[in-house]
Amino acid sequence: MLQRIFFATSEVYPFSKSGGLGDVMGALPLAMHKSGIQTAVISPFYGRISTSDYHIRLTISDLPVGYPWAPITADVYETDYHGVSLYFIHRGEYFDRRYYYNDHKGDYFDNAERFIFFCHAAISLMERLGESPGIVHAHDWQTALLPAYIHFLRGRNPFWANTGTIFTIHNLAFQGRFSSRLFEQSGLPPEAWGIHGAEYFGDMNLLKTGIAYADAVTTVSPSYAREILTEKFGCGLDGILRQRELYLHGVLNGSDYAVWNPADDPYLPSHYSKKDLSGKQICKENLINELGLNPALVKRPLLGFIGRFRGQKGIDLLNKIIPALMQLNVGVVILGEGKSEHEARSLELMETYRGQLCAIVGYTEDLAHRMQAASDIFLMPSRYEPCGLTQMYALRYGTPPVATAVGGLRDTIIPWPADNSTGFIFINSTPHDFLNATTEAIKLWENNPSGWKNMMQRAMCQAFTWEQACREYKEIYRTTRLRLQ
Ligand code: ADP
Ligand code: GLC
Repeated sequence: MLQRIFFATSEVYPFSKSGGLGDVMGALPLAMHKSGIQTAVISPFYGRISTSDYHIRLTISDLPVGYPWAPITADVYETDYHGVSLYFIHRGEYFDRRYYYNDHKGDYFDNAERFIFFCHAAISLMERLGESPGIVHAHDWQTALLPAYIHFLRGRNPFWANTGTIFTIHNLAFQGRFSSRLFEQSGLPPEAWGIHGAEYFGDMNLLKTGIAYADAVTTVSPSYAREILTEKFGCGLDGILRQRELYLHGVLNGSDYAVWNPADDPYLPSHYSKKDLSGKQICKENLINELGLNPALVKRPLLGFIGRFRGQKGIDLLNKIIPALMQLNVGVVILGEGKSEHEARSLELMETYRGQLCAIVGYTEDLAHRMQAASDIFLMPSRYEPCGLTQMYALRYGTPPVATAVGGLRDTIIPWPADNSTGFIFINSTPHDFLNATTEAIKLWENNPSGWKNMMQRAMCQAFTWEQACREYKEIYRTTRLRLQ
C-alpha cells in the first residue's frame, strides 16, 4: 500500500494518556511503521504537552477549519516520533485544560464541540497535506465522525474517493451521546440523521455514527467482538452492530514490551527476568517500604489493583471483599481514580486496615509500573473488558492475574488448573466468586511455591505482540480498499 495510514485519536502515549487508548495509540502506529507502512497520527495538542518533548514544532499556523459553527482556525504542531509523523491539532480554548474529557464536576460541557472541531480540523489538515490517505483509522467516540465525513465527501471530492475508513471501538460504553442540536452543528448532511445513521433515540450518538459509516469496524479482542452483539454487552448498540456484523472484526491489542518489560523498566528499583526472578522480591520489599506497609508482609502475598474506579473495573467488588482478604493476612495495594464513592470507600478501608492495605487515589504512571513488578497477584474483577492491557502487563511482570471471564481477559489468560495456566478466571461478577478465585490463588502461592513459580514463568512467556495485531489490521485495510475499487 503506497498511501499513508492516518490514525486519528484523542490520546497518544507518551504525549497524552488517560488509559489503555493512549497506550494502544502510542504503540500501534509505530508497529505499523516498522512493518513497512507509512503512518501518521493526528491527535489534539493538550495543554500539558510540551513543545520541547521530541522537538515538536509549529508547522501550520491558522489552518482554516471547515467548521460549520463559525469560521475558525487551528494551528498544527508536528514531530517525527520514531518514523511516525505525529500531527497535533492546537486550539487552546478546546484542549488547553487540566484533564482530557472531564474534571471532578463531570464531563466538560463542550465535549461535543471540542471533538467535532477536532474531526473537522483533521479533515482540513489531511487535505492541506495534499496526499489522499489510503486509510483513515479512527478510534472511539472522539474521532467517530471522521468515517462519516469521509463517507459523504467521497462522492463530492475526488481527494477522498479512494480513502477507506476503519473505526475501532475501545469501549462501547462511552458513546458521545449529545442533544440532536449537535447534529445540525456537526456538518453532516440531513440524510445522516435517522436510525441507520447518527440518531439514537432522538439524540446524536457519535460512536453509533462511526459504526454506521465506517467501511469496517473493529474492536480490541475477539471475545468482546462477539459479546457486543448481545443485549447484555451491547450497551444499546447491539442492533446496529449486528447489522454491521459482516464488517466487524476483533483484533486483540498488543502489549508494548518496549515500555512494559521488567528486564529494563526504568521505573523499577531492580530488574528481573523469567530466568532470574530475584529482582521481583526486591521490587516488592521496596514498595512495601515506600507505601508504609507492615514489613512482615514481604513474606506474604501482595495483591495489586490498578484501574479506573468505575463499575467496569469492579472496584466495588474489590472493596467488598477487602475485609475477607485482610483475614487471610495478605497485603493489598490499590491505585486508581474515578467515582468519588469508590475513592472514599477505598480510602476508608485503608484507614481501617492501615499497614496492610494501601489505596492511592490518583494517576501515577511510575507507580503503576512498580506495582506490576511488586505484586504477586494482580486483581482484575472487570464486569466487562474490551481488551484490558493491565493483565497483559501483569503476565509479563510475573504477576498472575485473577480476572473475570469476559472480553480480552478470556482471550489472554489461561485459567488454573490447566497445565499451562497463567492466572485465575471466575465466571460471575459477584464478591463471592471473586473472593473464591482470589483465595484459590493465595492458596496456590502459599502451598505450592514451585507450582507458583512455574505459573509466573509461563505468564512471563506470553507474548501479545503488536506485530500480530498489525498483520490482522493490514488484512482489514487491504480488503476495505479492495471493496472501494
Ligand atoms: P482501560 O483503558 O479500560 O482503563 P487498560 O487495561 O486497557 O484499561 O489500560 C489502562 C492503562 O492505564 C494501563 O496502562 C494502566 O497502567 C493505566 N492506568 C490506569 N489507571 C491508572 C492510574 N490510576 N495510575 C496510573 N496508571 C493507570
Ligand atoms: C478501553 C478498554 C480496555 C482496552 C483499552 C485499549 O479503555 O476499556 O479494555 O484495553 O481501551 O484498547
